[in-house]
Amino acid sequence: MIVLGIESSCDDTGAALVTDQKEILGEALQSQEEHKQYGGVVPEIAARAHLEHVDEMISVCLQRAHMDLSQIDAVAASAGPGLIGGVVVGVMSAKAIALALNKPFVAVNHLEGHALCARIAHPIEFPYLLLLVSGGHCQILVVKNVGEYQRLGTTIDDAAGEAFDKVAKMLGLGYPGGPVIDKLARQGNPEAFSFAKPNIPGYDYSFSGLKTSFLYNLRDWIKDDPDFIEHHKEDLAASLEKTIVDILMKKLRLAVKDTGIKHVAVAGGVSANNGLRNAFHDHARRYGWTVYIPRFSYTTDNAAMIGITAHFKYHDHDFCDINAPAFARIIADPSL
Ligand code: KG4
Ligand code: ZN
Repeated sequence: MIVLGIESSCDDTGAALVTDQKEILGEALQSQEEHKQYGGVVPEIAARAHLEHVDEMISVCLQRAHMDLSQIDAVAASAGPGLIGGVVVGVMSAKAIALALNKPFVAVNHLEGHALCARIAHPIEFPYLLLLVSGGHCQILVVKNVGEYQRLGTTIDDAAGEAFDKVAKMLGLGYPGGPVIDKLARQGNPEAFSFAKPNIPGYDYSFSGLKTSFLYNLRDWIKDDPDFIEHHKEDLAASLEKTIVDILMKKLRLAVKDTGIKHVAVAGGVSANNGLRNAFHDHARRYGWTVYIPRFSYTTDNAAMIGITAHFKYHDHDFCDINAPAFARIIADPSL
């Protein structure tokens, strides 16, 4: 049983062919560079770029798998949440192929894709905790089973990736800021500076206070030394990264303590961060957690996670009516 998965909900256009055994036969991904000059994803540009690349990604993916469309049993797309223009491109492409081949169309919740992404390489035991950290999301979920998710906490303002991106912008480091901060942080002292940490009850996150604290401190430092950023960018990056990772891990430790679940996975763009990955390994050693960290290529949005999720839905006969719309915000599972 082979599913063609399509991802186009933000700024990555991807296609992947996935088998029942969750084996990836072929995949292709195009990350849009067009947004760099604007300091963030521009929805209209994203939609046009998806339209331009989606067919090519599907063809490249088929070529890599040495297959043709007739060998596909179902077609899946990330049907939301996401930027509506991009989601529509993926959903309409998938529906067109499904209709032409007379095969079922599976609509996948993008967040469910992230939640199950950890299963690509590892047979993770249910239940597991998932830290989902991207540019748009920052949540702790209990993944009880396929289709059974309980959201313990979410951000009340910015997502962790946004915090990286916004501070990077203040430092003039370009967009997306996370990867640049990560690189600089490897050469800096994480204890050099300290920034405000939130005091929010429960499992929720907040990053707007950190962003403001960083900005006010930076203004003061620049008054004394106009070249402050240039002189200290490695230490600033390392200290910011440490603060964000500390905030993320503190709530996760609380969730592990309260739920007793020691299988912990991470997903989303920020899971590429080396400081966060090291913190996961460190927690595994110190607290006996079993951790699941995706390989780098699956930290970002990808079509393999859409294909994997579609398999589970396919086996439940959870197909989508060809007339069902794409969605930007309304999501199939209210807990996600
Ligand atoms: O999941 P993703 O590719 O797209 C969505 O937001 O859905 O995540 C992108 C986010 C951006 O905020 C980016 O700065 C952040 O992930 N990111 C990182 C790293 N790589 C990407 N943040 C910190 N360290 C990284 N190495
Ligand atoms: Zn995503």
